[in-house]
Amino acid sequence: MTIDPSNTVLAFDVYGTLIDPFHMEEHLRPAFGERAREASELWRGKQLEYSFRRALMKRYVDFNQCTTQALRFVCAQLGVTISEDALAKLMDQYLRLPAYADVPAALMSLATTGFRMVACSNGTESAVRGLLEHAGVLQQFSGIVSVDRIRTFKPDPAVYEYLAAETRAAKENIWLISSNPFDVIGAKACGLRVAWVRRDAKRAFDPWEFETDAVVHSLQELTGKFDSR
Ligand code: LAC
Repeated sequence: MTIDPSNTVLAFDVYGTLIDPFHMEEHLRPAFGERAREASELWRGKQLEYSFRRALMKRYVDFNQCTTQALRFVCAQLGVTISEDALAKLMDQYLRLPAYADVPAALMSLATTGFRMVACSNGTESAVRGLLEHAGVLQQFSGIVSVDRIRTFKPDPAVYEYLAAETRAAKENIWLISSNPFDVIGAKACGLRVAWVRRDAKRAFDPWEFETDAVVHSLQELTGKFDSR
């Protein structure tokens, strides 16, 4: 693959790509017991659904609120009562979720190669900054592009236009790197280049009319692809 790092922006999705939201399973166990995994998956699914619905309805609240409301839904759906303190604690733990193991070294290697890198997330600037700082990778990024500034959510095309405007890069020189197929398709539909990080090998890609420019199973693999110039 021929990519010139000096004029290429790598825009990384955050939740699911750099930071592992399913790590919450461990924190959900005291309240949800053996249904902790189900709760964590339902939580993530509802969080995204709420963001999609709010973008469509033009009823923006920030991603932290989508996440909190999704957690309340999970409790109601699975018939588990938790105190307001326990809920606040879980939300606090959400702000300290860990990065996937391959992330620090891969980001360091891509930054060393000379790529300009930004985080591009549905999360608020402050939540994303905190997560990247906690993971020790914040310094690899030249900026954080949060949807919160434009009060909508991916995959609204306005987000990818905003990313291009913020980075002042031509769309064909921006790579959106995401494990979330809805994000990959959203960016591709706007004219960006896209890499799908297929962290879960069993996960299928949506059979729409859009194709990825690259598929990798880890960020380490991405490093290999982008370095083979
Ligand atoms: C994000 C969501 C999509 O970080 O996980 O933007």
